[in-house]
Amino acid sequence: MITYEQLFENNKKWVEQKSSGNPGYFEDLARSQSPEFLYIGCSDSRVPANEIMGLEPGEVFVHRNIANLVNSIDLNCMSVINYAVVHLKVKYIIVCGHYNCGGVKAAMESRDLGILNPWLRTIRDVYRLHQDELDQIFDDTKRYNRLVELNVNEQCLNVIKTAEVQRCYKATGYPKVAGWVFDLKKGNLIDLNIDFEQDLKNIQKIYNLDI
Ligand code: CO
Repeated sequence: MITYEQLFENNKKWVEQKSSGNPGYFEDLARSQSPEFLYIGCSDSRVPANEIMGLEPGEVFVHRNIANLVNSIDLNCMSVINYAVVHLKVKYIIVCGHYNCGGVKAAMESRDLGILNPWLRTIRDVYRLHQDELDQIFDDTKRYNRLVELNVNEQCLNVIKTAEVQRCYKATGYPKVAGWVFDLKKGNLIDLNIDFEQDLKNIQKIYNLDI
């Protein structure tokens, strides 16, 4: 078991390791940030954003919540997208779900989850949108995993629905939006290859904020 005190020991070692090849490492880091990527992922402790992408401090702007949801009235997530697009001018916004997601699984259970009800309701809505497909999958694990993928797709659409993304993309060709799934059992990232251009066109039929 890792003790509380161990965290500071770890930190000390980490500082030494980072500074060993470059004594000015932290001073450089403190100067500014210009990450190319915004990563929106699940809070799950088994999916550490920087680590799975092999990225160092300063290379990715990160937002995490239960089941990687992008909700239009979530001031937290909307502020992160706004800051990343308008100020950091990220090139890619990545929504990354993961198989074996406890949040997605919990949303599929018929029980009262208290404060999690309104949060996980979004996933039940994704299920309802894709019920015809999902009801055809009889294996529970496969059905959950497909829902994880469909949830990522829907959250990518929610990113594309924002005014900042629509305006900035039209003006600069960025950011592009990507949907990924992290396969916990293998450790690899799967690109769902969403068709961003097409999705943007479809979304703007109803959600056009580029005015
Ligand atoms: Co999760």
